[in-house]
Amino acid sequence: MQPWQYDEHIQVGTDYAAVQEAEAYDQRMGSVRDVAAEAERIAAALGLTRESEVWEIGAGTGECALALAPRCRQVWAADISPAMLAVAKRKAAERNIRNIRFGDGGFLAGFAPPDPVHAIVSQLALHHLPDFWKFRALQRLAAFLRPGGRLFLRDVVFPGGLDDYDRHLADFVGNLAAKGGEKMAAATARHIRDEYSTFDWVLEGMLERCGLRVTDRASDGFLTFFLAEK
Ligand SMILES: C[S@@+](CC[C@H](N)C(=O)[O-])C[C@H]1O[C@@H](n2cnc3c(N)ncnc32)[C@H](O)[C@@H]1O
Repeated sequence: MQPWQYDEHIQVGTDYAAVQEAEAYDQRMGSVRDVAAEAERIAAALGLTRESEVWEIGAGTGECALALAPRCRQVWAADISPAMLAVAKRKAAERNIRNIRFGDGGFLAGFAPPDPVHAIVSQLALHHLPDFWKFRALQRLAAFLRPGGRLFLRDVVFPGGLDDYDRHLADFVGNLAAKGGEKMAAATARHIRDEYSTFDWVLEGMLERCGLRVTDRASDGFLTFFLAEK
């Protein structure tokens, strides 16, 4: 390994390697997200069929992979947290879903499909890498897509062009406290302070420079998704 290689197994901000965090994750997300509706939208955006092979990175407790699996042939679900993967594997066994392979892998290295895939998904995870390493990650993802393959990338991204970022962040965190509780608001404040979310225009530029054409994009607060095609 090169001496400058980023160690992506070090959790930045929230410690998703902690068993307690992994066990509480689904309940915490359930108060602010509709994961079934998310998976529906992702499957449609990616144009998944029964023949599709999908790689999810930063799969966490596996809700998206588990929802996509019945719609495609094979899902590879990678994460760097053994605790999150353990929850995901347990749910796959409980739900009798057999076409997901889970493995210890990150954006930069580790568990990945054996051959290029039709579709790649990543949600709320790329911000764990600083920008240089985000780009390196997107280069790797692009190389793992078949020609015409699609990437659905959703993450906490800062909007460009605001005059008063502190006011927007205060509104955002305040609304979250009302909806998801103080713990969620504190985790979000920590995210903004300690993690590596970047600007929407930086991420879009990175995608384009990796040879991916952005075909759709939408923002909801600080969450932005990009649909990109190789
Ligand atoms: C906020 S959770 C998101 C989980 C899931 N994608 C979701 O939408 O609920 C972030 C996940 O990214 C994982 N993660 C952090 N850095 C990573 C990296 N470099 N490569 C892959 N996964 C990473 C964490 O272990 C954690 O499971």
